[in-house]
Amino acid sequence: MSKTEVFNRTLRDVPTSILNADREEHSKFRRALSHGFSDSAMRQQEAMIVKYIDLLLKRLHEECGEGKKKLNLEAWFNWTTFDIVGDLVFGQSFKCLENIDYHPWIEFIFSSVRFGAILVAMRYAGLDTLVQTIVKSGNVAVNRVRKYTDEMVRTRLAMEKDRDDLFEGIVKRREEWNISFQKLSSNAFILVLAGSETTATTLSGATYLLLTHPDILAKLSEEVRSSFSSADEINISSVGKLPYMLAVLNESLRMYPPVTSSLVRNVPPGGEQIAGQFIPGGTFVEIQHWSMNHSKENWKDPWAFDPQRFLATPEEAAKAGNNLEALQAFSVGPRNCIGRNLAYAEMRMIMARIVYDFDMKLADESQRWIERQKSYALWDRIPLYVHLTPVR
Ligand code: HEM
Repeated sequence: MSKTEVFNRTLRDVPTSILNADREEHSKFRRALSHGFSDSAMRQQEAMIVKYIDLLLKRLHEECGEGKKKLNLEAWFNWTTFDIVGDLVFGQSFKCLENIDYHPWIEFIFSSVRFGAILVAMRYAGLDTLVQTIVKSGNVAVNRVRKYTDEMVRTRLAMEKDRDDLFEGIVKRREEWNISFQKLSSNAFILVLAGSETTATTLSGATYLLLTHPDILAKLSEEVRSSFSSADEINISSVGKLPYMLAVLNESLRMYPPVTSSLVRNVPPGGEQIAGQFIPGGTFVEIQHWSMNHSKENWKDPWAFDPQRFLATPEEAAKAGNNLEALQAFSVGPRNCIGRNLAYAEMRMIMARIVYDFDMKLADESQRWIERQKSYALWDRIPLYVHLTPVR
């Protein structure tokens, strides 16, 4: 797989980013960005992340009406993860939690994702020339997002040097590696998109799955509430010691993978041996996470939400019919997710804080929440209404 090129690369005249750069440029971007994702950088970023989680909890307490009002947690998760990643990339949040509203950027992002999925499908159907013309015409949501992103990147570049954020690594190498402003901006766009939608999706999916499985929610609540004597004790290091929480998040990533299919790869001329089979050059290949995660070949009762399967050792799991390695929600290889540790840290802290503070009940109109959604590689999520009652 590593020898294949990313399919999106062949969209000409689009400034490259870490997601669609060729191998050589990708490894440069990846090296530049990796410092911002290191453990030591994450420790520096923790206080900022907690600041937004505190604001989320404050708002939920203000808004929940002691369980009488239903809140759309899907939106609250999205606002939180956008605010966090906005600050981590641009040095400024989108102020969604402050304003209790979406930022226009977020709406543009989703329409550009949906549009991107349609363009990829058109290219599968051999309509490449038409796709290039549409992209060049510029009259699409993605161009509006780009303009917004450019403005935010300009503001970020005017800030003081040596910030411990996700963007500083690439800003520092800008001159040495001759990285154009457009490429900086493309990378910023990808970081914000990849770093917010996915975590908000997993948190929403996990919440829905917990609320439809009260025994599992009770077990998670017991773990969280018995581990801390106050919410202040919930931090990156302490949530890392909650095994059931991790099992719940992994099982949620399996049942409802935020990235349902990976980016399409193009097999190079001459063909390649992939998963024991010869694939001719020019073939488009991709991993379908949804299918991997729901295949009987990989999982016992694939449609059952059962975090317990992730608490077994790989040998015990294999005996029970679960191939734990089949869950690769963050992908594998040189282009796997650079934000995996950050994502787990955010998701564990947010989920722990909510479960610590609230009892939750799914509102009637949010039944069958997963089954009613469409996916365009990312989910076109629908509102997730939940009644929240403060525990203490
Ligand atoms: C639950 C959360 C997340 C999931 C499931 C997820 C999943 C993925 C997957 C599957 C890929 C590979 C795409 C492909 O090439 O086919 C990827 C790449 C990437 N992710 Fe994530 N991601 C998550 C969170 C994050 C976060 C929090 C960030 C950053 C703030 C992030 C940044 C990136 C970047 C920059 C790439 C491209 C890496 C490269 O090409 O070298 N992701 N992610």
